[in-house]
Amino acid sequence: MKYDLKQLTLDEKITLLCGTDCWHTYGANGKLPVLHLSDGPNGLRKIDENDQTVKATAMPNISTLANTWSRECAYLDGATIADDCIENNVDVLLAPGANIKRTPLCGRNFEYFSEDPYLAGTLAKEYIKGVQDKKVGTSLKHYLANNCETERFYQTSEVDERTLREIYMPAFEKAVEAQPYTVMCSYNLINGVYAAENKKYLSDYLRQSFGFKGVIVSDWGAYRSAYKSINATLDLVMPHCDMHFANVKAALEKGLITEDQIDFCAQNMLNLIEKCQAEKGVTTTKEERHENAVKIAEEGIVLLKNEGALPLKQGKICVGGNFADNPPIGGGGSAYVQTDYQQKNLAYLLQEDMGKGSQVEFAHAYLHPIGDTNKTKAVYQCAYWADSVILCVGNDSGIESEGYDRKTIKLSSTQENFIINTAKYNKNVIVVLFAGSAVDMSSWIDKVNAVVLAGFSGEGVNQALSKILSGKTCPSGKLNETYPLSLEDCNVKVNKVGLCERYSEGIFVGYRYYDSFNVPVLFPFGHGLSYAKFEYSNLCVTQTGNTDFEVSYDITNTSSVDAKEVSQLYVKDVFCTVSRPEKELKGFSKDLIKAGETKKVTLNLNYRSFAYYNTALDKWHVENGDFEIMIASSLTDIKLCAKINIQLDESTQQSQI
Ligand code: BGC
Repeated sequence: MKYDLKQLTLDEKITLLCGTDCWHTYGANGKLPVLHLSDGPNGLRKIDENDQTVKATAMPNISTLANTWSRECAYLDGATIADDCIENNVDVLLAPGANIKRTPLCGRNFEYFSEDPYLAGTLAKEYIKGVQDKKVGTSLKHYLANNCETERFYQTSEVDERTLREIYMPAFEKAVEAQPYTVMCSYNLINGVYAAENKKYLSDYLRQSFGFKGVIVSDWGAYRSAYKSINATLDLVMPHCDMHFANVKAALEKGLITEDQIDFCAQNMLNLIEKCQAEKGVTTTKEERHENAVKIAEEGIVLLKNEGALPLKQGKICVGGNFADNPPIGGGGSAYVQTDYQQKNLAYLLQEDMGKGSQVEFAHAYLHPIGDTNKTKAVYQCAYWADSVILCVGNDSGIESEGYDRKTIKLSSTQENFIINTAKYNKNVIVVLFAGSAVDMSSWIDKVNAVVLAGFSGEGVNQALSKILSGKTCPSGKLNETYPLSLEDCNVKVNKVGLCERYSEGIFVGYRYYDSFNVPVLFPFGHGLSYAKFEYSNLCVTQTGNTDFEVSYDITNTSSVDAKEVSQLYVKDVFCTVSRPEKELKGFSKDLIKAGETKKVTLNLNYRSFAYYNTALDKWHVENGDFEIMIASSLTDIKLCAKINIQLDESTQQSQI
């Protein structure tokens, strides 16, 4: 170790446990290097000495990244952002967030991966590896049970233990396997105790059970009491807080904490500082980083509906709406990235991709997501004479943002009317939808021929859209969350009694609810269309241990276009004696399958794939009995199914964790 605790006085050790300003750690009068922490997760958002936001690559938002269902894309995203960090001397990127999308209203859903913990944890882990393999640190956030923005500083999330273990913790648990340099605790209380002071969830679970070895940092301003947070093993308080030093000292003098506890936290800080000194190198140019943003966007854009409208046919194409010219690239708040990339109009890019056989015309209409819509006549006239119309509509960073939640999941009535009216002048309307979370499309979906979810896809969005609309790229994104028919169909309502948010739906979050209780939805979890056709066959399940199984199957691309397919593995506990979801995601794969080719996919299942959290035994428990293994193209499009039986003797069952 280059940096030794013994070099530091007690006062210096205590000072090290608090930032010096909004973004920097303490340098102990030149004894230690100062670290710079900056936001993510959708690219680098660094505030410089002059309080200016540094320009960086605006990557697809995490919601788009998660729609790729691609471990490679998650790794590439992290590695690309790391290069921006290295170029700007940032040591720790404050990302990614692994919170579960409990309700489509949550203002920060665009920063989060999924309503499913397996998908969220798997991709968060790859993102962290992508950043940290370049020797830049990450901060896995916001731990724990922070699933809405309303009253986020004061809310207590009242969640039962089984739900925490099965829904809200596993994404963090999985991501911690990549050993993020830091974990950021959330603002809220968990069952009446602030996350920053919650010894059970910080020390007992995060450190002891999950094996986290790094620094626990408070969310910005989440810190309350010095002795309680040190007892909970919170290491670093951010941003600078005048009272922290005096409070820690006073707590020490009163015997509420010991010097050993201060040493433990200070040592964690020294380890972090040491790791951040590793030699780093930028390996991509700015242009290459932009190309990575385009590539990830291409894989994350989801074709939701297509009645023969796409890929576009040659002819007269009208592109309408100001978002075609100036697309929303991300949600708002600390995750908003400022880029100096000059957007090209979608119509211009489409003209290039479609070639001389088409005339692509841009019709400007100003469609404010909540305000008035004007100049629509230009679009209607253009649509009237066109063979296809592409309408760019949706939300922007003002609607979906940190700090508040959405009130509705519908588009504004002016946007809805614009779609409905355009469809009166043209029978081939394609809606390109910008949004970071689910949208209710009930008033207009039947009137249009195709819907493409552009999401919030960063600075490369128009290039990616043009490739997909023109058919140069085959769409391969699938939804990381359910799109309900309407908000009324969601079981999670704002359920606050005072500042207490009751998670009374328990484990039935997202598809676990809709699927188990037969609630019809607009688009199920895992849904996404392709221009190719796939056939699934040859499911083979081989037992390799008591609860270990190797599952393989073939996917054949029976079409004439090369394409990627996301296949999903769901497990159902058939005769369970506790209430369990109808089925749960336990594996997935994304594979490039050339036209006419067959690809064999192999996935592995283990104890946790079959277990639920038994609170009476206080452990993950596999109940003996029958299970179904389903291979699917979406939650509701099951292609293959196998039945297995698990019988564990009591001693084996007792020995499992
Ligand atoms: C957000 C964090 C962010 C931090 C620093 C907080 O308000 O919740 O996600 O990293 O600010 O900007």
